[in-house]
Amino acid sequence: MEQLTGLNKLKTAIFISGTGSNFRNLIKFSKIKKTPISINLVISNINKAKGLKYAAQFNIKKKIFNFQNNKNTEKEILLLLKKEKINFICLCGFMQILSKNFIKKFDGKIINIHPSLLPKYKGLNTHRRVIANKDKFSGCTVHYVTGKLDSGKIIMQKKIAVTGKDDPISLSKKILKQEHRLYPAAIMKIFR
Ligand code: GRF
Repeated sequence: MEQLTGLNKLKTAIFISGTGSNFRNLIKFSKIKKTPISINLVISNINKAKGLKYAAQFNIKKKIFNFQNNKNTEKEILLLLKKEKINFICLCGFMQILSKNFIKKFDGKIINIHPSLLPKYKGLNTHRRVIANKDKFSGCTVHYVTGKLDSGKIIMQKKIAVTGKDDPISLSKKILKQEHRLYPAAIMKIFR
């Protein structure tokens, strides 16, 4: 791939609801030389989301939207994305479901990371379900976002072993570590 310069990197918005470790990790990734993205905006549906602290730390514009009226909120977000010339969106633990209409406007340009080996364990509480089912493997998946929850085309996956000693907390820690490698790798794969 041709080396992207600061001017022609993809203007990216990150959507978060919580801790934001993937957000922080993608900020780091956006600063390496070969990265295809620049992070220009972070959006959250939770004003106390811990991860928002990275916006101040790394001088990234942040905006909080409470989704009381989803339709209006999404309209406002679309206007903001247009104003900021955003052309790529990474969901990082964003707990609000976006409408089909919103996704259509960014068709093929929204990706998400999910802490399971999709298509297994869509939705919430993945680690708890993996342990309850005594699965031998779990992992994480980066996929395109479509109108159907956690069902878009898979970009990359990382599989890890689940041991008898694992509980949902230890498993989530192990997988999160892998998520931090997988998300940048998946973005590189898309734009190489
Ligand atoms: C991650 O496990 C991600 O896979 C899931 O939500 C969690 C977000 O973690 N979608 P963080 O906020 O990036 O630390």
